[in-house]
Amino acid sequence: MKIIDNKSLKEHNTFGIDASAKEFVTVKNIDELKEALQTDLEILILGGGSNVLFTKDFPGRVIKNEIKGISTVRENDNNVLIKAMGGEVWHEFVLYTVNQNLGGIENLSLIPGTVGAAPMQNIGAYGTEIKDTLESLEALEIETGAIKKFTANECNFGYRSSIFKNELKNKFFIISATFNLSKSPIINASYGKVADSLHEKAISNPTVKDVSDAIINIRSSKLPDWRKIGNAGSFFKNPVINKKYFLKIKQKYPDVPSFEIPENQIKIPAGWLIEKCGFRGKTKGNTGTYEKQALIIINKGNATGLEILNFSKEIQRCVKNKFGIKLDTEVNFY
Ligand code: FAD
Ligand code: EPU
Repeated sequence: MKIIDNKSLKEHNTFGIDASAKEFVTVKNIDELKEALQTDLEILILGGGSNVLFTKDFPGRVIKNEIKGISTVRENDNNVLIKAMGGEVWHEFVLYTVNQNLGGIENLSLIPGTVGAAPMQNIGAYGTEIKDTLESLEALEIETGAIKKFTANECNFGYRSSIFKNELKNKFFIISATFNLSKSPIINASYGKVADSLHEKAISNPTVKDVSDAIINIRSSKLPDWRKIGNAGSFFKNPVINKKYFLKIKQKYPDVPSFEIPENQIKIPAGWLIEKCGFRGKTKGNTGTYEKQALIIINKGNATGLEILNFSKEIQRCVKNKFGIKLDTEVNFY
């Protein structure tokens, strides 16, 4: 096992923050992982670093997950159970399934990061979340080294959340995830922009590949490429409020976009709230929001994590003052 001391994490987080780790270890199999966990230092599991913000140097051991492998567990005439190891790149795994015309995760094309981190926040986009197809996952308990299987139900998935982001935060290393994919895909192209894009191409009976391609195009045109402009996708979650309070806001702002969700709750796009506060495309020092999407905070060059954190707090204060709504962060801070 190779331990690198005082390693810069700049190349290992999509925000491009130049923090360092006291120790940095890359693991390629379970034995290396078990060895890497033998330390008294604090541990940070790192995948693609696309949902983290380093606000200071990390004083412990960063374990970078490169445990790879994809295998078919079982299949019948209708479905296939496919297991991917946590260090696989999520989008490459999606393409592997799309190229076999298997349905279930095509709407999650081009989301950065690894398979192992995907259950952490139940990644979602364009009307799909991984909870819809995740059958189970295997995770190694950091304290004991024991490997435990979690069914999808036991993961307590919610909107951008799971048991691993809450009660079990930093307690388990997700080793693999198994997905139940369909050989007769039911296409979900209900999301406005996806439907429009297929319509423009005159595709009336889309395949999973058509949907994946449409989503890749939409995402490439509206999200900043983190290789050029540092970011971690949506910085905040879209807030959920009760209908009564929503109607009050709508009286004052009739154009407020909204999505009804169960139990009389309404989801409002945080990007709209932030834009209404005048923050879309705003620059502050080395940071700012993306001009096409106010929910994405960007690194304009050499921002520190602390600068980004302070800017995000300014946004939260403004949205709270103007709308009385608290924005919760999606990104994980270290
Ligand atoms: P990291 O950033 O490395 O880690 C994130 C968290 O998970 C950390 O707390 C880490 O300790 C923990 N973790 C990582 N691996 C493991 C593991 N194996 N076991 C246990 N814990 C682990 N997200 C969406 O849901 N939908 C989107 O549409 C979306 N779009 C994005 C677009 C852009 C341009 C970017 C930059 C990000 C976007 N994201 C989106 C966020 C991000 O891609 C996802 O959260 C992704 O799953 C993070 O994967 P990662 O490997 O980079 O995780
Ligand atoms: N909007 C504005 N101004 C902005 C940005 C958005 O008014 O600057 C409004 C528009 O009305 C727009 C609506 O917000 O129609 C929704 O915007 P968008 O379609 O870009 O989606 P989002 O709600 O901002 C969410 C996810 C994304 C996911 C997309 C597509 C969250 C926090 N974000 O974004 O996930 O890719 O939907 O499904 O739920 C991520 O989690 O990192 C992420 C990128």
